[in-house]
Amino acid sequence: MKLFIDTANISEIEEASKWGVVSGVTTNPSLIAKEGQKLEDVIKKIVELVDGPISAEVDEGLAVDMVKQAKVLAKIHKNVVIKLPMTMEGIKACRELTDLGIHTNVTLIFSVHQALMACEAGATYISPFMGRMDDAGFKSKELIEDIVTLTSIHGYDTQIISASIRNLQHINDAALAGSDIATVPFKVLKQMVNHPLTTAGLKIFADASKK
Ligand code: G3P
Repeated sequence: MKLFIDTANISEIEEASKWGVVSGVTTNPSLIAKEGQKLEDVIKKIVELVDGPISAEVDEGLAVDMVKQAKVLAKIHKNVVIKLPMTMEGIKACRELTDLGIHTNVTLIFSVHQALMACEAGATYISPFMGRMDDAGFKSKELIEDIVTLTSIHGYDTQIISASIRNLQHINDAALAGSDIATVPFKVLKQMVNHPLTTAGLKIFADASKK
């Protein structure tokens, strides 16, 4: 499973890109707003740091307006992926952009039928949200398993980006369900090297070395 970083913070991307495990970046309007900069300006900086798919989300609205905004964003760099909302207008925009050869990521997916619509619209990526699924009292692990089943039994090329990752359990569930990608906040990515027994083992070895 590939690891993307889910942030618009340039320092986080700079540091994480040095670890050699991050192959893409996803952003959303909330993450961009936190940085207090224009979407285009942030995306221009990110494409210089990571050589992989960089998701930039358009403002939700009519397909015609989203396609217009998408064309501007797509011109920034060949790695820019247009993130679209899971609405009928988003689906229409997805089909249009796919036909133009622009890569897309349909976001805010919470069911198999939504995933199916996006796959049929030719989405390059779909983003089911794990944390928000659990928040609403559903089981995110089953969501990812079901969407993996959907894409594999029907042979869709669309790749699954497990998103709204809040903890290590989400990563384990996404990986074992067969998600193609997990997009992970910086804090959780850093935790991925940890295990209490690793920490304890290192202390035992360090103490032994001193003797
Ligand atoms: O990738 C989507 C993600 O940024 C949403 O995360 O924690 O706001 O549900 P969260």
